Amino acid sequence: MSTVIQGARPYGEGDPVDVLIEDGVITAIGAVDVPEDADVLDASGQVLLPGFVDLHTHLREPGREDTETIDTGSAAAALGGYTAVFAMANTDPVADNAVIVEHVWRRGQEVGLVDVHPVGAVTVGLKGEKLAELGTMANSQARVKVFSDDGLCVADPLLMRRALEYSTALDVVIAQHAEEPRLTVGAQAHEGERAARLGYPGWPAAAEESIVARDCLLALHANARLHVCHVSTTGTADVLAWAKERGTQVTAEVTPHHLLLTDERLATYDPVNKVNPPLRTQSDTARLRTALAEGVIDCVATDHAPHAVQDKDTEWTAARPGMLGLQTALSIVAETMVRTGLLDWRGVARVMSERPAEIGNLADHGRPIAVGEPANLTLVDPDAEWTVRGAELASIAANTPYEGMRLPGVVTATLLRGRITARDGKIC
Ligand code: DOR
Ligand code: ZN
Ligand code: ZN
Repeated sequence: MSTVIQGARPYGEGDPVDVLIEDGVITAIGAVDVPEDADVLDASGQVLLPGFVDLHTHLREPGREDTETIDTGSAAAALGGYTAVFAMANTDPVADNAVIVEHVWRRGQEVGLVDVHPVGAVTVGLKGEKLAELGTMANSQARVKVFSDDGLCVADPLLMRRALEYSTALDVVIAQHAEEPRLTVGAQAHEGERAARLGYPGWPAAAEESIVARDCLLALHANARLHVCHVSTTGTADVLAWAKERGTQVTAEVTPHHLLLTDERLATYDPVNKVNPPLRTQSDTARLRTALAEGVIDCVATDHAPHAVQDKDTEWTAARPGMLGLQTALSIVAETMVRTGLLDWRGVARVMSERPAEIGNLADHGRPIAVGEPANLTLVDPDAEWTVRGAELASIAANTPYEGMRLPGVVTATLLRGRITARDGKIC
């Protein structure tokens, strides 16, 4: 079985080339004679990138299959250009043991559209009281490489310190949802003028920044790796820059929504804009963009968070936080980072594929586009635009904040180990 991609520009650089893929591996790049049995992808005018890797996805299985399943979430991921995703542990039951993480891993392999890597919980039941069996999950068939209580912060500094210490022996990474819970009791939106005017309790920047500063110091002293989820403030970028300068093994992600949207959206009263951490200010989005371009923030992660209609179409304070992200991520990055000149396509490959694969310790993703490498690839039409319609997305839920928006950058095909998983907006 072979596939030929014709006339694409790897990383959007140089002259168009053909890429021959045999048995899941890139075997020739240049002018390629098309084998008789080959599937041909006409990719003229398109950019060829390594398949995207999402370090932060909520797939809701087990427990909330009314909003997303591993099946539908995998489809959304493949259509969004992803070849691997990390599925967060805040399911029901929680992914805090080998049985659940092995179920998620196996189900992902059965669906076969993207590699679904389960994230293991740091604490039992996400309760923040007792460490989960990290070693058992790391050594299970699921080979868990990332641990997080995401949705909640590992707030107890002693527990966080222990988790970081264990993580070094297991060669895994702890991903922190940085939110000091004592500072966000009842919080509904970014603490500032807009939330105050609407009478919403605020979510202060310091609740994020204080935890990130604390954890960077804990990681430095433990000689452990720390990953910071969904950075949302200028102050967090400052802390990360400082910690990295001091040699802390810290990495960080930013979501597409924190790169584009601001708390001006509060004026709509529409809970589709409610997310945790909340949408911040224009100056925060500006700083997050430059931090991503400069590598202070390592990568983009979606925090894809499907929610049921009854949990979103309700009053703001009752609505759950979170928004869909897998199928719109590339376009939001194109809009905020490429159109603005902050990143070229080589840079997009770095923040959406290479760095997340390194952080998640995946050997077969985020690889160079070169002969001998696994054919985990994404084709993007950089000049095309599309209009977002929540009802048309592959997720069961439809809570996209980009409804009706016209966005640049269309994912035209995704290949997982040489197999075409998505093509022209359809699952294959
Ligand atoms: O907005 C969010 N939604 N933030 C989180 O941390 C959790 C997530 C969810 O699970 O819905
Ligand atoms: Zn989170
Ligand atoms: Zn999350």
